[in-house]
Amino acid sequence: MEKFFINGQVPLNGEVKISGAKNAAVAIIPAVILSDGVCRIENIPNINDVTLMAHILEQMGACVKMINKSTFEIDARNVHSHVASFNFVRNMRASCYLLGALLGRFHKASVALPGGCDFGVRPIDQHLKGFSALGAANSVESGLVNVTAKKLVGDTVYMDVVSVGATINIILAAVKAEGTTVIENAAKEPHIVDLANFLNSMGAEISGAGTDSIKIKGVDHLNGTTYSIIPDQIEAGTYMVAAAATGGDVTVKNVIPKHLEAITAKLQEIGIDVQEFDESIRVCSDGTFNKCNVKTMPHPGFPTDMQPQITALLSMANGTSIVNENVWDNRFRYTDELSRFGSKISVDGKIAVIEGVPELVGTSVRAMDLRAGAAMIIAGLAAYGTTVIEDINHIERGYENIVEKLTGLGADIKKVYEPEEEPVLSSIIS
Ligand code: EPU
Repeated sequence: MEKFFINGQVPLNGEVKISGAKNAAVAIIPAVILSDGVCRIENIPNINDVTLMAHILEQMGACVKMINKSTFEIDARNVHSHVASFNFVRNMRASCYLLGALLGRFHKASVALPGGCDFGVRPIDQHLKGFSALGAANSVESGLVNVTAKKLVGDTVYMDVVSVGATINIILAAVKAEGTTVIENAAKEPHIVDLANFLNSMGAEISGAGTDSIKIKGVDHLNGTTYSIIPDQIEAGTYMVAAAATGGDVTVKNVIPKHLEAITAKLQEIGIDVQEFDESIRVCSDGTFNKCNVKTMPHPGFPTDMQPQITALLSMANGTSIVNENVWDNRFRYTDELSRFGSKISVDGKIAVIEGVPELVGTSVRAMDLRAGAAMIIAGLAAYGTTVIEDINHIERGYENIVEKLTGLGADIKKVYEPEEEPVLSSIIS
């Protein structure tokens, strides 16, 4: 089993370059299924979720060429199947984007219910509501979601909840539908805008992405394109919080500061010095932190995908902070792990009360999911002594070269392979 070993309390210093956005890449790669040409996609993060998505497309008949470590050329014209079985998609939530992309291309799609991070029920009713507004019938049988339409015709869809995934899926299904689709109460995340820009670069007619009303005028064809993915907002935010937590001075490069405003504002409230430049952000911290309250919200609110990381930081604040998780029902499971560092957190449903302690102490913990894993790294970097993190596969799903990037900032972190311990026979007998 691979683990991270961290010797903490080394302030991070220097520069770190942010990779392309995971959540944009995992939407843009399946969107290539809708193209009648070859798509060259640049600034792709080299992470397991992306490799998996590219592999799923290959299995379905696409030709995926890796031009260099961050550029793929994908020709999906030979995709022959509208089915993505459980074996393909079980480990990744974003595989549900195959539903919209395959429906848009073949007018039918069968995709297994997706896996991914587990933080409560992850329904897809809003995705299905959107497909049905476009004229597609749906059924769920033996864990397979089937959607089928004689033809797709644009309509207005009013979403009951703001959903990133449903907004993306409806865009994918609508982009080649007849007529105009309008998504009201749409999600506004930067990766939605990135997907719309990617599709528009192929000839789609999407307007309003980034607002809560997105208009998609259906087109007959989408050409090939060359497109560069936006920087990862959450990876950038994670390094910003790590710099703050260790009392460091880090310039986070290759970012769009506008995408980071909610995180920047919260760090400033905590007492961290954050300076914005055109494509970088500098975070300087003296290692003291004010308490503050955080409510996660859809964009442009404070992102839920930064909630575990900011909670790790607030565990060391002067005073008591309250973190309110407004997006997911069950995203505080990791706080038990964080408590192993000596942090004092009590959780009641979607609210965590964090009583700051002067110092965290290194320990052994598990990465419960991707962002929870990032929080364990931040706590380990800030803590006195050694921290060992297990189940790091969750972290590697979404953070490119995290050990190399942190080491470049001076952190003492290593990935170590340790064989699983055999159970001791005497303890089994007794
Ligand atoms: N929801 C519904 N019905 C639906 C869809 C969603 O009720 O049909 C609810 C969910 O239960 C949740 C809320 O709406 O309470 C938001 O869910 P959303 O659909 O926006 O989430 P998602 O598309 O499944 C994406 C990201 C997540 C991120 C959320 C929220 C990807 C691949 N995943 O998930 O990212 O937490 O949006 O911003 O884009 C991560 O990167 O670590 C991650 C988990």
